[in-house]
Amino acid sequence: MNIESLHWGELSPETFLAEYWQKKPLLIKQAFKNFQDTIPADELAGLAMEGEIESRIVSNDGNNNWQVDHGPFTDFAQYGEANWTLLVQAVNNWSRPTNALLAPFSFIPRWRIDDVMVSFSTPNGGVGAHLDQYDVFIIQGSGKRRWQVGAPNSELITLLPHPDLKQVSAFEPLIDEVTEAGDLLYIPPNHPHNGVSIENSVNFSIGFQAPSSQELWSSFADKLIDNNLGEQRFSDSTRKTTTTSTLISKDDQQQLKAFMLEQLENTEMFEQFIGQYLTQSHHALELLMPVNDIDEEKLIDILSEPEIRFMPVSGLKAAITQTTLFLNGDSFPITAKILPLAELLAQQTPLTTEQVKSFNTSLKNSQLLTSVLNKGYWYIE
Ligand code: SIN
Ligand code: CO
Repeated sequence: MNIESLHWGELSPETFLAEYWQKKPLLIKQAFKNFQDTIPADELAGLAMEGEIESRIVSNDGNNNWQVDHGPFTDFAQYGEANWTLLVQAVNNWSRPTNALLAPFSFIPRWRIDDVMVSFSTPNGGVGAHLDQYDVFIIQGSGKRRWQVGAPNSELITLLPHPDLKQVSAFEPLIDEVTEAGDLLYIPPNHPHNGVSIENSVNFSIGFQAPSSQELWSSFADKLIDNNLGEQRFSDSTRKTTTTSTLISKDDQQQLKAFMLEQLENTEMFEQFIGQYLTQSHHALELLMPVNDIDEEKLIDILSEPEIRFMPVSGLKAAITQTTLFLNGDSFPITAKILPLAELLAQQTPLTTEQVKSFNTSLKNSQLLTSVLNKGYWYIE
């Protein structure tokens, strides 16, 4: 694998977080030595032909007329040799080498990372100047592209050259460079940017997730409703008389707010909610469910084969807290006894027969192993 280490140059993950993360864009030339595309362009085109994989082609005629087509695509011939880009979402869910591009960014917790979007651009191809709401690291793969990145500017005008394409007016670049294979660009949220391909080129975008407050509140409310956890009613047995009966007093408002916040203060429920919420996949995953459920006995049978490996599904979102292993929005309760196995499952380390055998000596470990296999989050290779 060509993506073992990120060469920070004069920076380090610590100085990057302190000086750049969510603050300033950055280009690191040759962050990855001898970088090679983790997926060939024809395989990327193949993914864009699949119905369950989100893809689009953005093209322009060089005269500011823009077109957006959504996949699945059957044929790319009509787009010609220049002026278009193909963007495919969550390629890491389908390409294990592309999923491995996340490893150098593990100085930021996995829950904060969303997916790896891959683009293939022909000369003059790009999506135009725009803003994103999320942080992104863009690794330049094969080919060259001119990247410009500016500072947030409230005077920029939002443009809609096509109903599915939001752009912004021209901006003053802070970074204006031609990127080559192995260069790494970091763009914080709301910084205008524009990548125009110089030749056929491939870009890998490690996109982050940052829930909005309304998304969190809405999902938290769903969790309460689904589990009937908010049925108790406001009570006020210490009430005193009022002389202003139409007033919702400050004190009443405070008590109602406190009543609502009690739900958030339920640490156990919050841990379940947030773990499930943050590990939910936003794109289809290739789950590999066994044809017949695997029970503890069947697992022992499987382990009699010497050369097998237990593999996590590519792109799986996993996280761990003191009480629970979360995989793809599902909870698996953990105890001190199964913590070592749960940690390996959360780190998504492929497991050999010998490793699994060493865990399979306790019933709780076997139950955790069979559960993750039966859900299709892990599979046997
Ligand atoms: C890309 O074209 O590879 C990235 C698009 C973007 O800037 O979001
Ligand atoms: Co962007």
